[in-house]
Amino acid sequence: MSFKISSLSEYFVEYQKSIDQPEKFWSDIAETFKWKKPWDKVLSWNFNDPDLKWFLNAKLNITENIFERNIEKFGSKTAIIWEPNDPNEKPLQITYNELFQKTCQFSNVLQDQGISKGDRVIIYMPMIPEAAIAMLACARVGAVHSVVFAGFSSSALADRINDCQAKMVITSDGNFRGKKNIEVKAVVDRAIEKTKTIEKVIVCKRTKAKVNMKSGRDFWWHEVVKNQTSDHKATILDSEDLLFILYTSGSTGKPKGVVHTIGGYMIYSQYSFQNVFQYENDDIYWCTADIGWITGHSYIIYGPLLSGATTLMFEGVPTYPNPGRFWDIIDKYKVNQFYTAPTAIRALQAHGIEHIQPYKLDSLKVIGSVGEPINEEAWHWYHDNVGKGKCPLVDTWWQTETGGIMISPLAGITPNKPAHASLPLPGIQPIILDTNGNELIGNNVEGNLCIKFPWPSMIRTTYGDHKRCKETYFSTYQGMYFTGDGVKRDHDGYLRILGRVDDVMNVSGHRMGTAEVENAINEHPKVIESAVVGYPHEIKGQGIYAYVICDIDNYSEANLIDEIKETVRNIIGPIAKPDKVQIVPGLPKTRSGKIMRRILRKIASKDISNLGDISTLLNPDIVEKIIIGSSKI
Ligand code: PRX
Repeated sequence: MSFKISSLSEYFVEYQKSIDQPEKFWSDIAETFKWKKPWDKVLSWNFNDPDLKWFLNAKLNITENIFERNIEKFGSKTAIIWEPNDPNEKPLQITYNELFQKTCQFSNVLQDQGISKGDRVIIYMPMIPEAAIAMLACARVGAVHSVVFAGFSSSALADRINDCQAKMVITSDGNFRGKKNIEVKAVVDRAIEKTKTIEKVIVCKRTKAKVNMKSGRDFWWHEVVKNQTSDHKATILDSEDLLFILYTSGSTGKPKGVVHTIGGYMIYSQYSFQNVFQYENDDIYWCTADIGWITGHSYIIYGPLLSGATTLMFEGVPTYPNPGRFWDIIDKYKVNQFYTAPTAIRALQAHGIEHIQPYKLDSLKVIGSVGEPINEEAWHWYHDNVGKGKCPLVDTWWQTETGGIMISPLAGITPNKPAHASLPLPGIQPIILDTNGNELIGNNVEGNLCIKFPWPSMIRTTYGDHKRCKETYFSTYQGMYFTGDGVKRDHDGYLRILGRVDDVMNVSGHRMGTAEVENAINEHPKVIESAVVGYPHEIKGQGIYAYVICDIDNYSEANLIDEIKETVRNIIGPIAKPDKVQIVPGLPKTRSGKIMRRILRKIASKDISNLGDISTLLNPDIVEKIIIGSSKI
């Protein structure tokens, strides 16, 4: 039985069903999956603790739902198409049968190396098929994977290893990205020096970079896999056992480990994938995200593979060897669904139309956007030049915490409205609240986006710190999940996401906490205090603007600025490097000592006509000085 919605009227019927009888709605869908033992109860929930459980006491293994459930039907079908960074290198096509065998072999490796149910395993790898195999093998043996984006620094990696007390790192020697040949294993080595829990490291050979292998700790992937059989009995797990931890930034402190559990995530990732993208059996689907982010988890790996889809995995970058690379890949494989981020669209748009004109792109049926608000200009460029005006564009709003797409058109079903994520998926109950917690009813309203009822793939906790989960998501509004985003419901009842209302920036679709960048800046010995804000950036959506008070002495300001940028790069990674650094004599503060970020945001955005009342500041004179300084940045 298929749960794919095929018309707008059907969407409304299904939506209503999912609201009236959520437990029946989701259990009907869940019944199409392979369970070792059925659930005693579909849902138990409480948003106050929070305590969230789906398919209570049911037993399963998610990889049996990818492989054993579908293998008779899809065994010889291509599961993963892998396109290497260098277009002249041979691509790979891996069938479901082959992926199953490789997953089983690597599951045996993990168990031989002492990994068992509940152990945390860090995956720090480039976009190569082994990364997918590593994730699936963890899931098969019941280990909890935590994929860390391979662009993060050694100290960011060490923080994550320490937070989840990981036992193993799976990595590669190096990483080809565009013209760069990046070291990977060396970063892992430096990270492990700051940790105590890693017992084993498995290293996949990709670039043939020279690496140090520590005897007894480090093993080559190809060597440990060599003699393993491809028989493996999946570990039987509980629906609420952990599937993965994924670290993401918030408005305070260090990144937190968002926890997703098996049963609910499995059901929602497949359901949302099939409905949003309207995937059909022989389609070739491509999501350009990195597996280090939630989009890669849900819509390169789990959603497509659970659906028996062919999912394309691309190792490289959109501009290598030239800015036509995405379009070249679409034509080469006749991609039918293409899912990318607005920042990539804007960057490619800036390179000029001549890079897209040589390509037909006539295989495309659906194009998608994720990660940040898509501005209308980029929406139209994408729709007209990539979708050739005929492909539905699904602007999908969701988060690491939501596990799957929450608000989005269903391709070809929900009428498209530029820059609108439009309507919630079945099972998703959004609510708009004002800052006092009053519900904003009806159309033409704007406020904070919350969700009032649980959905299967929602965050269960933040790893090792349940209180933080409660405080971050369930305390702003009593009995609601608070997303941190602003939203507008327009005159048609369509939702438009307005961006974050907290101190979280969205830089090139990457989530970054202002506090996290400030902490990194403050590590520079000459920095006394800093304040970081986001500002509108043509390509990245938001850029990072840092105001820094320094002990300059006779030091050159230009050198200091470079050093500060470098410090952030070393502590977090290149994605967090500030675009602008302004050395300031002070920061605007309230009488209670709180930095007035509102003013700093306005100055960074060059919007100084109305700074509001600054007379109540502790140091109102500083504002003028900062404005003068900012004109030179
Ligand atoms: O602000 C929203 C923005 O990205 C945030 C979530 O970031 P992350 O957890 O890294 O997940 C990104 C990929 C799912 C959200 O709080 N965001 C995501 N998608 C959209 C979006 N903003 C506007 N429109 C979207 N389609």
